[in-house]
Amino acid sequence: MTPAVLFVCLGNICRSPLAEAAFRHHAALKGLAAEADSAGTAAYHAGNPPDPRSISTAIYHGIDISHYRARQIEQTDFTRFTHIFALDEDNLANIRRIAPAHSTAQIALLMDLVPGREGQAVADPYYGDAAGFETSWQEVSEAARHLVRCLA
Ligand code: 4NP
Repeated sequence: MTPAVLFVCLGNICRSPLAEAAFRHHAALKGLAAEADSAGTAAYHAGNPPDPRSISTAIYHGIDISHYRARQIEQTDFTRFTHIFALDEDNLANIRRIAPAHSTAQIALLMDLVPGREGQAVADPYYGDAAGFETSWQEVSEAARHLVRCLA
């Protein structure tokens, strides 16, 4: 079965688009066939492109995410995706709370993939400066690298 991975943060404009991009990048490097998408637990930014600071951070690392569009997680995601990764504990709790009884996805915290970082959040860079977005990129890239290795 082809892995299908959904990355979920709050707004789907800062962290989860970076996680999706990093995962797509590392999957391509390893020749792993996988589907990927990202979503938010909130709908505030539905239909919007990623935050300009996320777009710049991804471009700096050679990846264009300007065509991504935010959306809210929906019930069908729980059977469409084999894995759903939350970027922090609050979003993990909300994902678990709305999961339907027939959910088939494995639901986990993204940083649990990184040895020594289990239980940690990818901190929300939204209210900070550009450096926070680079920190987020490094964290989601490390997790993506481990995830590709797990799925390959
Ligand atoms: P994200 O960051 O969850 O990483 O996309 C945020 C984006 C928007 C808001 C909060 C966090 N907001 O409150 O609008």
